Amino acid sequence: MKATAIAPANIAFIKYWGKSNNELRLPLNDSISMNLSGAYTTTTIEFSPTVSRDEVKLLDGEFSEKEIARVVAGLDRIRALAGVHLSARVVTQNSFPKGAGSAASASGFAALTMAGFAAIGKTLSEKELTVVARLGSGSACRSIPDGFVLWKSGDMSDHSYAYSLHPSSCWDIRDALVIVDSRMKKISTTDGMESVVTSPHLAKRLAALPQRVDRCIAALRDKNFSMLGSVVEEDCLDMHKVMQTQSPPCVYWNAATQKIMDAVISWRMSGLPVYFTIDAGPNVHVLYEAIHEKEMAKKLLTLTDVEKIIYNKATDGAKLVDQHLF
Ligand code: DP6
Repeated sequence: MKATAIAPANIAFIKYWGKSNNELRLPLNDSISMNLSGAYTTTTIEFSPTVSRDEVKLLDGEFSEKEIARVVAGLDRIRALAGVHLSARVVTQNSFPKGAGSAASASGFAALTMAGFAAIGKTLSEKELTVVARLGSGSACRSIPDGFVLWKSGDMSDHSYAYSLHPSSCWDIRDALVIVDSRMKKISTTDGMESVVTSPHLAKRLAALPQRVDRCIAALRDKNFSMLGSVVEEDCLDMHKVMQTQSPPCVYWNAATQKIMDAVISWRMSGLPVYFTIDAGPNVHVLYEAIHEKEMAKKLLTLTDVEKIIYNKATDGAKLVDQHLF
């Protein structure tokens, strides 16, 4: 059977950076995210006796050998759980630049997992799907449930899963993803995380995280935007401090990133409730509430050195659709 899934990218409010188990992709801490309506991956999969070996194709771009191997490993996990030995044809398409943040692997593995199990005819619960998606790329587990999502770190594979804290309709938060460089990032998240323990700042970050996670949960529950924005910015800067003090250092920002951070801070000083967060790349997510959409649209247009802006709302998680890519 053929199946197609669409999965959103997600932006982490509380970041995942570092694993307690590399093979199982068990994270060092719980993380929290929002699914993004404007940045998503569509994937069609068909397991068939007429395919002799897995065929993996990215529309509007190219996968590296390493990326293809990662997709095939994902297909192997699906085949093993379903007890099926057929090869697959996979066609996938991103609505946004691959590798510009960590977003493409999150939406990519969420879509692959959901489409893969549907195509192979095995039904999994949402929780089980998040566990399998996590094994492909950690943050992918957060792209399966709806809206605002928490990923429990867990001490073994089945205990490390994601679930929805609130549906996307509960709060109209906007995320303008300002793309300053759409090229592939130099250090992959997987490679960058391998040396996280070399950062002298890691222990401090891990000690601060449980309280920060609680503050983020409370801000989402109370719809307190200044509380949410402050904790999101604090965690972003804290994660980048760890990244930048690792050996070798992971410096994902560039001059354009810094300029946008400065602009967001000055807009806030002048009274607009707006905050930034940044994943493993130079692009900046600018967060604000829908009521400030008009003023923010004007402000964002004043930014220079911008390739493109992707406007997002909170959205549902991965879902199956009828329009196939082949
Ligand atoms: C900085 O999920 O891409 O975006 O599990 O190694 O594939 P792997 O890492 P990945 O890491 C995402 C890191 C981040 C923060 C976050 O999204 O939580």
